[in-house]
Amino acid sequence: MTGPVRIEPAIVRVALADRSYDIVIGRGQIATLGARIEALRPHAKTFIVTDGNVALHHLDAVEAALAESGVAHSQLVVPPGEGTKSFKVFADVCEAVIAARIERGDLVIALGGGVIGDLAGFAASAVRRGLDYVQVPTTLLAQVDSSVGGKTAINSAHGKNLIGAFHQPILVIADTTLLDTLPPREFRAGYAEVIKYGLLGDPAFFAWLEANWREVFAGANSASSAREHAIAVSCRAKAAIVARDERETGERALLNFGHTLGHALEAACGFSDRLLHGEAVAAGMALAFVFSARLGLIAAAEAERAVRHLAAVGLPTRLRDIPGRLPDADALLQLMAQDKKVKRGELTFILVRGIGAAFVEPGVDPAQVRAFLSEKLAEQ
Ligand SMILES: NC(=O)c1ccc[n+]([C@@H]2O[C@H](COP(=O)([O-])OP(=O)(O)OC[C@H]3O[C@@H](n4cnc5c(N)ncnc54)[C@H](O)[C@@H]3O)[C@@H](O)[C@H]2O)c1
Ligand SMILES: [Zn+2]
Repeated sequence: MTGPVRIEPAIVRVALADRSYDIVIGRGQIATLGARIEALRPHAKTFIVTDGNVALHHLDAVEAALAESGVAHSQLVVPPGEGTKSFKVFADVCEAVIAARIERGDLVIALGGGVIGDLAGFAASAVRRGLDYVQVPTTLLAQVDSSVGGKTAINSAHGKNLIGAFHQPILVIADTTLLDTLPPREFRAGYAEVIKYGLLGDPAFFAWLEANWREVFAGANSASSAREHAIAVSCRAKAAIVARDERETGERALLNFGHTLGHALEAACGFSDRLLHGEAVAAGMALAFVFSARLGLIAAAEAERAVRHLAAVGLPTRLRDIPGRLPDADALLQLMAQDKKVKRGELTFILVRGIGAAFVEPGVDPAQVRAFLSEKLAEQ
């Protein structure tokens, strides 16, 4: 066989009874896609949903891998970007899947970042009342976060991810070489979610990241398997939480660490290139550490250590790191209150008692948050 040498993949099992599935993580794993699909669903037809950027770099390799195992495939290429998580494109995907005669027993393949995973996964959940699908995540964010756990959604005029379904994939293939074509800024933003797993529950992983992040970023040029390790640990962390709380009635909320303020900052920036999701989450996590220190939950030096690593990789950690003007503290609070994690006027925040010790605090006083944000905005 030609192509890059393949190293044994890491396999993370997501244990959800009859909806359990494997996440296969490793270099060159895309080449195994057809064989893995044929083993799971013999003679299934497939329909690939991808975006223009990903198609340019990786669609040929995916088609070749399917053809090699005799897996029939057709595809739809949609425009890149968050705007694609719309009713319009959702309808396009559903109609294309139906037109391609994909039926129960066949498969949808989501080839792309979180946008494609959310869109194609939701279409798979809806067409014929539920088709199986495979995630082939192509961004770091998608490999460590959005492709795992079965949340799928499109956006409403009223907010992000408001229309969707829980629908687990039957397989996830995270080929780490695909990340080498990702713009560096996108890789760094995805890395914020990797740090998140350390900060919320795994201090040893956080310390490992502090020591090894350069290798994680180095990609194909690196002889080490640090990137694969970081992705596998992240997936294992998410898989364990999802297995215990699939529908987010409790513990899964911890995965929203840094996200309440993060979402407000993203909204304030119009969900634009001004601030990517992972960048917003980085700032949200850093400020959650500083706020926790302010509340006396954690020593200032430990909060500083968390912030230092985020800053070391070039992620924003202060409000003044976000380019352009931000709205005032009241407006930011308003945006946080629109977040679906808000109940009856009290803010639910994920706070920390230490690095690796996050917890859900449902009763945060908005006045205290307002004062904190005003102070941080004044540091501009
Ligand atoms: N379902 C979940 O649990 C979950 C979790 C987190 C985020 N999300 C969603 O994920 C989305 C963000 O995902 P994302 O950050 O992956 O964004 P994305 O899918 O928009 O990808 C980012 C950019 O990178 C490009 N790209 C993707 N892979 C590439 C590659 N290998 N080489 C070159 N370019 C590539 C894309 O075309 C796009 O321009 C948001 O819509 C968010 O709501 C979902
Ligand atoms: Zn996130």
